[in-house]
Amino acid sequence: MQNTLQHRVRAGIAKWLPVAALAISTFGAASAAHAANPTDADLIKHGEYLARAADCIACHTSNKAQPYAGGVPFKTPFGTMYSSNITPDPVNGIGSLSEADFISAVREGKSKDGKRLYPAMPYTSYTQMTDDDVRAIRAYLLTVKPIAQQPPANALPFPFNQRWAMMFWNLFNFSSGRYHADTTKSAEWNRGAYLVGALEHCQECHTPRNVMQGLGSKSLAGAQLGNWTAYNITSDKIAGIGGWSDDELTAYLADGAAPGKANAAGPMAEVVENSTRFLTPADLKAMVVYLRDVPAQNNGETKPRFAYGEPIQSVAQIRNQALDVMGGGATPNGRTLFNGNCASCHGWNGAGIGGKEAGNYPSLLNNSAVGASTANNLTMVILHGVSRETNHQHMMMPQFADQLTDDEVAKLVNFTTTQFGNPAATTTAADVAKMR
Ligand code: HEC
Ligand code: HEC
Ligand code: HEC
Repeated sequence: MQNTLQHRVRAGIAKWLPVAALAISTFGAASAAHAANPTDADLIKHGEYLARAADCIACHTSNKAQPYAGGVPFKTPFGTMYSSNITPDPVNGIGSLSEADFISAVREGKSKDGKRLYPAMPYTSYTQMTDDDVRAIRAYLLTVKPIAQQPPANALPFPFNQRWAMMFWNLFNFSSGRYHADTTKSAEWNRGAYLVGALEHCQECHTPRNVMQGLGSKSLAGAQLGNWTAYNITSDKIAGIGGWSDDELTAYLADGAAPGKANAAGPMAEVVENSTRFLTPADLKAMVVYLRDVPAQNNGETKPRFAYGEPIQSVAQIRNQALDVMGGGATPNGRTLFNGNCASCHGWNGAGIGGKEAGNYPSLLNNSAVGASTANNLTMVILHGVSRETNHQHMMMPQFADQLTDDEVAKLVNFTTTQFGNPAATTTAADVAKMR
């Protein structure tokens, strides 16, 4: 299931493929190498922390019982490709990659014997990592349980299966290079920039891509990831997260919930679950310091996503909603559907249940998924639900894809945005059908 989610989600990152298929070349000759045997416990522990910060596990684990064994499908319009096994297994994993091979794979997208990797592997971001950090990650990975399992073969037809073609994609979309400290900024800012850009690779989802599917220049200005929208997280007060407090931003990254602003679902829930919730308070603070300073980009938005949502004013409105439930006509309208499916957790008035703290059933008022200018994320959440681990508990919202028709989901979405959020965000049964 996690697998299916990634399948759907990561598809958005894999659109560069057609561009890659425009050219030609060769593979190098085979050569032998062998794995080092790290013993330094501190180095390994540090490597584990960095591997979490870089979220290697998200893309390299299709079965939770076999961490890092790869096989996560990345669906592209031209076929499906699978992530590599990066356990220490010498035949199927990274056991036979020399340190130089490993560093080159992670930072240059060029693995053993010159094999070019597709940029579904975010070497485009990891290229900024220091030597020490890549070495520590390798030291850690060499200690995880080796799994003798080959990921399924890529099902990419010619010419998309030609790895050398990535050379040309790289020419236009990839510049190799370590992170350069900005000496005009504080050490904390630089640590934050390194974490966000080199390790966490936030831009791989949040930065809009150019026609060749390379990262564009409007850093973190928001992008489409398959059916999900990774919102603008620049410092813009209206379109971005400039209106959030430092504490809210920290809480979102540490817990996946910033009451009154947003909750993390879909791909962002995975980022928080696998990665950001494990960061130290100092590293989280550094990221927040940096994010605060990312140049503002406004995509024409006029009101913050989190600013939508009027509290229900009159008791009559609430009574009406309650009456609707009892009335229960033959074709339920949005309100009836809301009362029947959502109100038990989010309240008759949409204000949530249990109070404002993270971990309670969230309010749908002042919630970015309901106040956004498109209904994408709201629709995805209704269809697929939420299931994520936090440092305190398991957050769970059921999926409704199996219980509600496309038409019912559309009515529900349109009622929810009109009543509790941004009325301009509407959908149709046909759009819902595409998102299942
Ligand atoms: C966004 C998804 C994603 C993330 C995050 C990611 N990888 Fe990958 N990685 C892939 C995919 C997909 C491939 C296979 C690419 C190919 O076949 O061209 C891959 C391939 C590799 C390879 C090449 C293995 C070989 O066959 O030579 C190595 C090594 C690797 N990843 C290590 C890492 C490490 C270490 C991290 C964390 C620092 C990481 N990956 C994070 C998607 C990801
Ligand atoms: C795998 C893709 C992906 C990555 C990587 C990613 N995000 Fe996100 N992010 C999303 C999506 C999708 C959403 C919308 C989630 C929702 O609506 O529940 C989101 C939402 C957010 C939000 C909430 C914005 C709002 O107004 O609701 C913040 C803040 C955020 N991300 C910050 C980050 C930071 C910082 C990083 C790097 C540590 C990061 N994201 C990495 C996909 C991603
Ligand atoms: C069993 C309780 C339950 C039910 C029923 C339920 N939800 Fe949720 N909902 C949750 C929980 C828990 C979360 C996640 C909070 C978190 O992750 O911090 C959530 C999150 C959300 C979010 C925020 C998603 C985001 O990306 O920010 C929206 C919007 C939402 N629900 C709408 C709905 C709608 C509409 C319905 C009815 C179809 C519904 N919920 C039914 C419990 C529920």
